Amino acid sequence: MKGIVFTEFLEMLEEKFGYAFVDQIINEANLPHQGAYTSVGTYPHQEMISLIMSVHFQSQIPVDDLLKTFGNHLFGVFKKSYAVFFDKFTSAFDMLENIENHIHVEVKKLYPDAELPRFETERTNENCLKMTYYSDRKMSALAEGLIASTLEHFHQKGSINIAKVENEGKIVTFIIKTEG
Ligand code: HEM
Repeated sequence: MKGIVFTEFLEMLEEKFGYAFVDQIINEANLPHQGAYTSVGTYPHQEMISLIMSVHFQSQIPVDDLLKTFGNHLFGVFKKSYAVFFDKFTSAFDMLENIENHIHVEVKKLYPDAELPRFETERTNENCLKMTYYSDRKMSALAEGLIASTLEHFHQKGSINIAKVENEGKIVTFIIKTEG
């Protein structure tokens, strides 16, 4: 998993809970890299799970809520760091339909060792997008946070519902509806 995911997760924790909390989490989570990450490095996905679980036990916040909030935070970071991707698209559906064949393709060129999910999209009608997430990392709640922020970015109101969860969360189908 790319270092930016780790550095930004710790950054979000510091913003929300303060430095002392982050320090405590790093000490308690028993992390091989002891919280010392660089944004361009690559670290084991398991270490991210340990961090998230540790925050969950300390704060009692459900894991999926933590991941969704992190998705919102990460979207803001991507907007600043990869502005070029945001200018190309005119609507939330336009952007979401282009993650698989455009955005994440460019990400993979920049970081060949990035571990990215796969997405399938289908526009069932003008105001409804069916989007299926596939990843062994089971981080669909992160996707949900990123999808919610995508709608907000384009000033579109709408709803995100989980229609189906398969393979213990490795395949998750979202139904995204916008207000016409
Ligand atoms: C400009 C926009 C975006 C950029 C630059 C970007 C880039 C990235 C990067 C660098 C990673 C980390 C890969 C790794 O750790 O090895 C990642 C992972 C991920 N991205 Fe994107 N992404 C963007 C938009 C989105 C959006 C809108 C979604 C939501 C549908 C999304 C869904 C995910 C998920 C869920 C992961 C976690 C890995 C997994 O579940 O397997 N991304 N992305």
